Amino acid sequence: MKKYIVVGNPIDHSFSPKLHNFWFKKNNINAVYEKKKLENNEIENLIIDLKKENINGINVTVPFKKEVIPYLDKLSIEASKTQSVNTIYLEGDKAVGHNTDIEGFELAIKNLKMNFKNKTVLLLGAGGVVPSLIFSLLEMKVSEIFLSNRTKTKADQLKKLFRNIEVINWGKIPDVDVIINATSLGLNNDDKFNLNFSKIKNKLFYDVIYNPKETEFLKNGKKLGNITENGKMMFIYQAQLAFKIWHNILPEIDEEIVKLLD
Ligand code: ATR
Repeated sequence: MKKYIVVGNPIDHSFSPKLHNFWFKKNNINAVYEKKKLENNEIENLIIDLKKENINGINVTVPFKKEVIPYLDKLSIEASKTQSVNTIYLEGDKAVGHNTDIEGFELAIKNLKMNFKNKTVLLLGAGGVVPSLIFSLLEMKVSEIFLSNRTKTKADQLKKLFRNIEVINWGKIPDVDVIINATSLGLNNDDKFNLNFSKIKNKLFYDVIYNPKETEFLKNGKKLGNITENGKMMFIYQAQLAFKIWHNILPEIDEEIVKLLD
């Protein structure tokens, strides 16, 4: 039986096994998808297992999206540009790293029937998923990306990868069309931003977090009269795209799958 795996640390929270195993059943694929908490010194063996075909595909999550890169033989353009890998597969005898977060985000925005062309965006955070969001936003032809992170040096690092972004101080909130929370603030129900978002009205508040469903950030946005959206569809789309790479089938996203993650 073929075996697929998501690795991260922590990993308990991951919904990837639920999604992929559901799609295996639906598509009559005889395979299993598991999650594994990984340590840094285990990455090398993981890729060896892929090459031996003990494992047939790997999803990578925080904090290993960049750390896996030295162990891979080849990167897709997207993975290379963002220095971030979330999907690994074997091509001949080569371990290839790809990034489906980028297209996952783009599809989630399309699903909202929104067009980001010429929009201004404020991105909060500088962690694992942020390079993918920036790449995606640039592809969507936004007019301006402001990046703000509590630890400014991390935002400055990203500026080296993406020259077009403007790094601003933590706490400064310009009047933008779209504000995105890509920090981990909100994962715990009592997490609160001590920032004043009141300038942003009738716009879009987007949170990459989907569990809890509505973070304090989104509640705040809603109160100010904004449209709000959590990261659930982005998560589902990135998984769908990984599934397509491994099995050459684009699995269906239906009500059942959306409910599965509630
Ligand atoms: P990693 O940084 O390991 O990639 P992540 O979950 O992808 O992990 O990123 C965490 C993000 O949430 C970071 O941008 C972090 O800011 P710092 O770089 O300053 O640590 C941000 N974050 C976490 N807790 C925060 C808090 N209480 N206030 C503001 N930002 C916070």
